[in-house]
Amino acid sequence: MCGIVGYVGSRSATPFLLDGLRRLEYRGYDSAGIAVLDDELRVTRRVGFVAALEGAVPAEAAGTLGIGHTRWATHGGVTEENAHPHTDAEGTIAVVHNGIIENHAAIRARLQEQGAVFRSQTDTEVLPHLIRRLYQGDPVAAVRAALQMVQGTYGIAVVFREHPGLLVAARNGSPLVVGKGNGETFLASDPHALARHTREVVYLDDREIVTITADGWDIQRLDGGHTSRAIEILAEELTDTDLGDFTHHMLKEIHEQPESLRRCLQGRVVPEEGGAKLGGLDLDPRAIARISRVGFLGCGTSFHAGLVGAAALEQLARIPAFAEIASEFRYRNPVIDRDSVFFAVSQSGETADTLGAVREVQLKGGSVMGVVNVVGSSIARTCGRGVYVHSGPEIAVASTKAFTSQVAATLVAALMFARTRTLAQHEGREVGEELLAAPGLVERYLANPGDIQRAVELLVGGRYVFFLGRGTSAAVAMEGALKLKEVAYVPCMSYPAAEMKHGPIALIDAHTPVVAICPDDLMRDKTLSNVQEVRARGARVVMIHTEGDHEAAAMGEVSIAVPKTRSALTHPLLTVLPLQLIAYRAGLALGRDIDRPRNLAKSVTVE
Ligand code: F6R
Repeated sequence: MCGIVGYVGSRSATPFLLDGLRRLEYRGYDSAGIAVLDDELRVTRRVGFVAALEGAVPAEAAGTLGIGHTRWATHGGVTEENAHPHTDAEGTIAVVHNGIIENHAAIRARLQEQGAVFRSQTDTEVLPHLIRRLYQGDPVAAVRAALQMVQGTYGIAVVFREHPGLLVAARNGSPLVVGKGNGETFLASDPHALARHTREVVYLDDREIVTITADGWDIQRLDGGHTSRAIEILAEELTDTDLGDFTHHMLKEIHEQPESLRRCLQGRVVPEEGGAKLGGLDLDPRAIARISRVGFLGCGTSFHAGLVGAAALEQLARIPAFAEIASEFRYRNPVIDRDSVFFAVSQSGETADTLGAVREVQLKGGSVMGVVNVVGSSIARTCGRGVYVHSGPEIAVASTKAFTSQVAATLVAALMFARTRTLAQHEGREVGEELLAAPGLVERYLANPGDIQRAVELLVGGRYVFFLGRGTSAAVAMEGALKLKEVAYVPCMSYPAAEMKHGPIALIDAHTPVVAICPDDLMRDKTLSNVQEVRARGARVVMIHTEGDHEAAAMGEVSIAVPKTRSALTHPLLTVLPLQLIAYRAGLALGRDIDRPRNLAKSVTVE
């Protein structure tokens, strides 16, 4: 979603701003702009990619202070006028903004009554006009006063023509990170934009405002008082975002899964004890023994990982468990008892709805822990404890390696809880060995993935595609359908296989291909019966099955085998792989922009 960068130092700001915006491209955006200050504020904005902006920035934009933005449209269409930065009427204040100003209409009306002329349809444009009106020589006071009138979420950066060495930034619900350079200071909404320039950073907390100069920064609370913050060191892996020999980040990330899974599992599964250690959860055996219920909260792919986690936890540890879409959970006034434990599952750690759900749990006195990829992200910091899944940077908008690592992390938690409550040492050891074997099996499958191309040909020729599965394979079916929709724009539906006959089967005919996820678990025979039902109505079937299961293979017009495992626990880590590859190849076949699907953003920071 929207991205912010800022620079103040002794070099020209433009190269950093453009490089930073390029590094934020993966988040998804539709227009970009920068404002650079020398003797005047020079604003350049363009619809489309940062490359288009780069070509448009005039040579004179060589000042040593500037801000930049990639916009993902919320208020107003994708036009140059709506792109950021926005300025006041005289062009003396420039603002970039992530988030949503909810009361912008009322503020705009009031400002218009006072004579302000608006040039965009955005919620953001109220900010430069408001700040200008409130400015009486002190830039921080003016920004603070403006933000006190604003409701909603924001990460903003503001430049004043009157203050050539000063950047003012503030945060409420939309992340900002400040980076320390040598005689220069950087600002970004995402540490990816900074990693090439510095590793020393501080993250702003909500309702904080910061003044940034070339020599450092000063953080204050929006409601008054200074705060100090220790510098944190960015993880090495943030720089590892090159494509290498791959044509797309999505394909690269699919192939990184053996390694990302190893990173997630190593040192956490302890087969000799038959258990697992997740120190970041900060739960001792007594606390685990007291848990009455576990909830997994997340959105999209992360919700699907939560569904698998909930099933595994209930099965292994015999603790009632459920998964819920975070945007629903946060507004339904959920009952949260003291002995419940929640996991907030999120790759980016910035998803507004998941963060909202975390706050709802905390507000009601519950315990919530992150299952997060991005270190230092808002959800990780708000939870204060949890599990980092260590997938490494996920650049493609479509989530792949984060899903398998999220599933693996929840399986480790399930083993840890189960060892305390239900499992004997020898049983726990088997589960642990099974988990540790998974990366090798993923590697083996990816080396020989089966006839993905034929599956793609069968699926993209259909009117729409059904994905069917039972148990954890129903969650995998949901994930497969989501991938094919978002990467290839192929209409898809997913259903627990048996639910089909309660209505949706009316849609089935020879033009509605079905992908059946049918590994050799307890539900296999039942799923095969459901596959027979759709075949009887003419559906052409792509069968995802366990290697050696010839009966299941024979039911697919195209059949793709995944390696056999000893228990069903790790099936989702394998059955999801062909679905990721199908979505990727279907996207290629249909000429889609694989890493940046239309209308989507990597990190969804608005609700
Ligand atoms: C799908 C996808 C999204 C995200 C969802 C949550 O490929 O990437 O559905 O899973 O937006 O994002 P995170 O995990 O960052 O909270």
